[in-house]
Amino acid sequence: MRISIRSSKGGVGKSTIAISLSKFLAEQGNDVLLVDRDVIGYSSYLAGITSPGLVKAVFEGQDAHSIKEIKVGKGSITVLKYFGDGPEYVPNLAKIHANRELISYYSKVYRELITSKPFSFFVIDNPPLIRDSDEIYLFEHNEFNYVYPRVKHSYIFVSDGIDENIKSNLEYMSQLNVKVDQRLAFIINMVRPDELQKYQNIVTNIINNLNVRIGGVIPFVENIFQFSGELKDFPLPKQMRELYVKLVGITLEM
Ligand SMILES: Nc1ncnc2c1ncn2[C@@H]1O[C@H](COP(=O)(O)OP(=O)(O)O)[C@@H](O)[C@H]1O
Ligand SMILES: [Mg+2]
Repeated sequence: MRISIRSSKGGVGKSTIAISLSKFLAEQGNDVLLVDRDVIGYSSYLAGITSPGLVKAVFEGQDAHSIKEIKVGKGSITVLKYFGDGPEYVPNLAKIHANRELISYYSKVYRELITSKPFSFFVIDNPPLIRDSDEIYLFEHNEFNYVYPRVKHSYIFVSDGIDENIKSNLEYMSQLNVKVDQRLAFIINMVRPDELQKYQNIVTNIINNLNVRIGGVIPFVENIFQFSGELKDFPLPKQMRELYVKLVGITLEM
């Protein structure tokens, strides 16, 4: 199963959900590939990857050491740093895509990295507001499908509790080329603990009206905020665990 984490907004917890979900899946005994497409490479940083991301390495003609495996319980998280070197990924990517030699090197390296183990889950952390027609989306998606034509795709949408952001995420979800049955979850994150019920009602409406399979409300949790320890120690509060238990159950039916 491939789970792509999406939002129309930055700073709402996409990387936090990607990391905590990967950790949960690994604890359950899965080998997880976490493709870190965050601009500043939050999960790569927590994994201790100091080399440039894949795009920068390819662009500069270096060998890509943009990957690290971390054992968690009976499973593992392999983090692949894809961007992570700041906003220069945009011009670098455009130049790679315009150069046939670079693109075939890029594609060879990416294919090798995503097949470095027999992974059972692929979690894709993304920059905000990526669309199906974007160059930064197409290449990775097409290469992935080429290598894994039978792996199912699903999407998790993440918002914070600000009304405008929920609205913009709903619009974003409806504009994407995502089939209704691929809408795995809509998560409202960083909610004040005394407002959990209010947001639970909002999320229940969303999933019922828009055929999302599951809804989640995650409170603001002090020890998650700006967490900078090791990836394997990433906090998993009970609301996340409960949500991820249900989520895994649903991926088995998909
Ligand atoms: N549930 C939460 N409780 C506390 N802090 C959170 C929570 N979710 C995210 N954060 C914090 O909010 C900031 C943005 O989160 P991040 O996952 O990097 O968002 P995004 O990937 O969408 O830009 C980070 O400092 C992170 O630690
Ligand atoms: Mg992020």
